[in-house]
Order: sequence, then C-alpha cells, then structure tokens
Amino acid sequence: MNHIARRALMALSLLAAGPAAAQQFPSRTITVIVPFAAGGPTDTVARLVAESMGRDLGQTVVVENAGGAGGTIGSQRVAQARPDGHTLLLHHIGMATAPTLYRRLAYDPVGGFEPIGLITEVPMTLVAKKDFPANNLAEAIAVIRREREGLNYANAGIGAASHLCGLLLMKAVDAPMTTVPFRGTGPAMQEILSGRIDLMCDQTTNTTEQINSGALKVFSVTTESRIPALPNVPTSAEAGLPEFQVSVWHGLYAPKGTPAAVVQRLSQSLQVALRDERVVARFAELGTTPVAQDRATPEAHRTFWQADIAKWRPIIQAAGQYAD
Ligand code: MLT
Repeated sequence: MNHIARRALMALSLLAAGPAAAQQFPSRTITVIVPFAAGGPTDTVARLVAESMGRDLGQTVVVENAGGAGGTIGSQRVAQARPDGHTLLLHHIGMATAPTLYRRLAYDPVGGFEPIGLITEVPMTLVAKKDFPANNLAEAIAVIRREREGLNYANAGIGAASHLCGLLLMKAVDAPMTTVPFRGTGPAMQEILSGRIDLMCDQTTNTTEQINSGALKVFSVTTESRIPALPNVPTSAEAGLPEFQVSVWHGLYAPKGTPAAVVQRLSQSLQVALRDERVVARFAELGTTPVAQDRATPEAHRTFWQADIAKWRPIIQAAGQYAD
C-alpha cells in the first residue's frame, strides 16, 4: 500500500472514531517535533510551551529535535505522521517561505498541516563574535562591505529565520558574506562564541543572555521599537538601516486529517500555555511575548500563515535563490 493510500486509511479510521477520538485524546505521550537542533530559539519556545500544555492536558508532551534543510526535514516528519494529534510540529516563519523556496518537497508544505495556533513573534538581533572589529551597526556595515566573502555568516539552513534575516542584511548593505549553515542556531552560537564564525542574525530567545553577559557583540534589534530585555540595543532604524526589520513568528501544527475535535482540544491547551505565567515570564526575559488570544486560534493562524506565504513569495522569487 503506498504512502497516500495509507494516510487516507488512517484519516478515515480517525474520522470514523470522531468524537470518541477527541474524548480519549490524548491517549499517550504527545511528541512536538522542532525542525532545528536543540538549544536554539525554536527549541526554547517549544520546550516552554510543551511543558505547559502537558500540565493542561495531563499527559507527557516531549520535544524531539529533527533538524536539517532549513526545517523541512522535521516538517516532513509531521506531515507524514499519523493524524491523531499525538505528533505536532512547532515551527516558525519557515512555514511561510518553504512553499516558495523548496520546489521539490516530498510533502505538501501547506496542505499537509492543520494549524493549531500562533504562539509568539520573536525579535531578531544582529550579533557578532566578541572581537569583531566594530562597535556599532555603521562600523559593522563598513567591515561587511570591506571584507565581503571573507566574513563567515551563520544560519540554520535555507528558509530558516537566520537565513532570511541574512538575506535582508546582505541586500540592505549590498555586500555578500560566506554563509555557513548549521542544523540550528544553537550549534551556530557555539561557533560564534568560539570566534570561528563572525556574524549571525538570530532571535532574542537565543541571544539575549549571551548579549547581556557580554559574550557577544550586538549591533541592532530588528523591531520598530527597542525591547525591554535589551534596552540599550538600538533598533536597526535608529542605527541607520531602517529596512533591516524582521520578526520571527512561531506556530503549532498537526498533520492534515487530524480530527477537528482534537485540533480544538490542542488549541484550547495552547491558549492555556500562552497565559501560563511561567511561559509569559520566561518569554519576557528572552525578549518576546505570547500573541493575543484572538491571534492564537486555528482559523486566525491559517489566515495569517496564508498571508505570509503570499508576502514572501515575490520577495523570494525576486531574489531568485531557491533551495532546490
Ligand atoms: C532559524 O530559523 O534560524 C531557527 O530558528 C534556528 C533554530 O531555532 O535553531
């Protein structure tokens, strides 16, 4: 039996189970796939949300890292999982860029998922190794324009937020750098701290503590306003590069065909997690906040996600850089 027939049979059996499936849900451990390596910003958001949802659902919710190919390897795992609500994907803006960047995926990057809800929008920071020869964004831009491919810029693969942020930066300063891909910006951070990587654009959930400890240099935050967790870091606009702005939204997804009642139960649990004081407090320490309740519904996220796919498609097509 081929993969498509098998999935159709699974979905039909779950449909037949219908309300009973929802009443028994969750009936076993839930696995949240993070499509990047452990220790990075997506992993950080996932572990906080998973722990809170587990308390609400009365079931163990584990996070499993499946990195590679800008998040598409882990996404494929979930798109092809049994659609019963026990395998979920926590991913980010890459869900809006992969449909255009990756032209030969083995799964449907849009139709393969049921959105559960939006979680948070995380600012990004342009950071550098401690001995990078610049002390503000203007000086960093001068070094990038002088050294060009002589500088190593880290990202988490094509389509990752760190990749998109790098595209925006290199376009804004009109100078390429040598891009070094990692399975996540957790491992990339180790290379910056060791001095083997020069620069990276990464989310505050991964950079705030390193910046505040002085282990990294930071040149700007990519939001319209400064953020409370990094009050002394200028916005890109203040630092003279207004077009260098991007925030990384994160969402939760189940495989297509997951019973609607199960999707609703998961959505209800996500809403509880977004109001969990432990989640809110840790998000704040790391420079972000949960989205408002009305943005965290399955319907609201589907609308938001589809609009972001449409927003990024022409940008990617104009750049003419595809993953395959
Ligand atoms: C990225 O898109 O850069 C990822 O968020 C990196 C990560 O989570 O490891």
